Amino acid sequence: MPRPAEVSSASDLLANDALVVRPAARLRGTPALPGDKSISHRALLLALLAEGESRIAAAGDGDDVRSTAGIVAALGATVERVAERRGRVDYRVASPGGDDLSEPDGPLDCGNSGTTTRLAAGLLAGRPLFAVLDGDASLRRRPMGRVVDPLRAMGATFAGRHGATLLPLAVTGRARLEPIAHATPVPSAQVKSAILLAGLAADGATSVTEAVATRDHTERMLRARGARVYEATDPDGRHTVSIDGPARVLAIDETVPADPSGAAFWLVAASIHPDAELRLDGVSTNPTRRAIIDILRRMGADIEEHDLPAPGGPDGEPLADLVVRSSRLRGIELSPADVAAAIDEIPVLCLAAAAATGRSLIRGVGELRHKESDRVAGIANGLTALGVDIRVEGDDIEIRGGRPLIGAVTETLDDHRLAMTFAVAGLIAEGETIVRRPGSAAISYPGFFRELEGVRA
Ligand code: S3P
Repeated sequence: MPRPAEVSSASDLLANDALVVRPAARLRGTPALPGDKSISHRALLLALLAEGESRIAAAGDGDDVRSTAGIVAALGATVERVAERRGRVDYRVASPGGDDLSEPDGPLDCGNSGTTTRLAAGLLAGRPLFAVLDGDASLRRRPMGRVVDPLRAMGATFAGRHGATLLPLAVTGRARLEPIAHATPVPSAQVKSAILLAGLAADGATSVTEAVATRDHTERMLRARGARVYEATDPDGRHTVSIDGPARVLAIDETVPADPSGAAFWLVAASIHPDAELRLDGVSTNPTRRAIIDILRRMGADIEEHDLPAPGGPDGEPLADLVVRSSRLRGIELSPADVAAAIDEIPVLCLAAAAATGRSLIRGVGELRHKESDRVAGIANGLTALGVDIRVEGDDIEIRGGRPLIGAVTETLDDHRLAMTFAVAGLIAEGETIVRRPGSAAISYPGFFRELEGVRA
C-alpha cells in the first residue's frame, strides 16, 4: 500500500487519492533532497556483512531503503534509527558479521524494491541459510532470472515461480561459491552488484563484464571496506569488474550524499519553468550517475556546479552543490548508452523534451518496461494526456516538443518516478494537473510534495 502523499495544503489531496498541481508563478529555494537510494541500500547490506558497528549518516528514508533495513534486521543485525531530519535518517547497525547471520524466520519483504531483492539475492547466495524473498505486486512482476542464472552458476540454489524468474524466490546459499566470469546481457548495476556480493564468498576471482559501465557504488564501497576490486575498460567500452574472494568487509562509518535521481526532478523543473532558480546541495556527481546533468546541459540547461571535497578518500563519492536556472531547452537525441547512464531519469527527461523546442529521439528504452511499472507506457500515456506529441516506435521514444502543456488527469501506475514527473509537469501546465495515486513518491523521496509546495512559495 503506498503511503498517502504529503502535502502542505490538505485541500490539494482529494478524497479519491489524487494530487492537484497548479502552475507556479516562480520557483525559488533549496529543496531538501533524499539520501542516495542506491548508496543507502548498499551501506545497509555491507553493514550486515561487516562484524561490529557501522554508522550510516544521511541515508535515504524512502520506503525502498526501509525495506532493506528490515531485511538487514531480519538477518540478525541490530538496526537503530539514531536521528531523522527532512527525509533522511542516520542509522547505527551492529552486526555479528557475514559468517554469523541468522536464518530469517519468515519471508523477507522487499516491498517495491528491485535493488533490495537483487542485492539480497547475491548476498544470500554466499551464506549457508534458507531465505525467501518476496515483495509487492509490482516487484512480483519483475524479472529475476538475470540474477538467479549467474548465482546458480556460482552454486546457490533457487526456487520460485516461473522457473525461479519471479518472486517469491527461495534461496539456499552456500558458505563457499564457485567464482564465475559473467557477461550481463543487459547492463545492470543490480545484477553486477549481486554477483560481486556473492563473489565475497567465492574461491577466487569473480568478474562481471558489461557493454557500458553502470553505477559503480558497490565497487567503491567494497574497496572502502577492504575488499580487492579491480576494473578494466576495453577499447570498445566494455567494462569488467572483478573481486577477489573469499573476502570479509570491514565496518566503517559513511555519509550518504544527496540522490542525483531525486535532484533530477528539480533540475528539470527549474530548466523548463520560465522564472526559476533552485539550489541543490551535496548531490553525488559520480561519473556513473551524473548523466542527467550532462544531458540537460546538452539540451541548453543552465546548471552551475560547485564541487565539494569528497569525503571517504579515493573511493568516496564526488559531490557538488548545484544551482539551476530557467533556460530554453532544445530537443536532443539520446543513444542506448545515454539511456543506460540515465536509466532512472528517462521519465523526467521525457518531460524536459516535451518542454524543449524541436524533436527529441530517445533510443533503446526497452529496459524501462521492467522497472516499478512499464515506464514507457506510463510516460507516453501521461504526457499524451498533457497534450504532448509523443510516439513510441519499438524501443524508441520520439517527442516533438514546444507545445504548451495542458493540465489533465495523469496515472502514476503507483510508480514513484512517474508520480514526481507528472507533479513537475503540473508546475508549467495550464490549469490543473491531477496526479492520481501519488503516494508512491515516498518510495524514493519522502517529502517530495512538501518540497514542491515549498519552492513555489
Ligand atoms: C539501481 C540500478 C538500476 C536502477 C535502480 C537502482 C541500483 O537498476 O534503475 O533504480 O541501485 O543498482 P538496474 O540495475 O536493474 O538497471
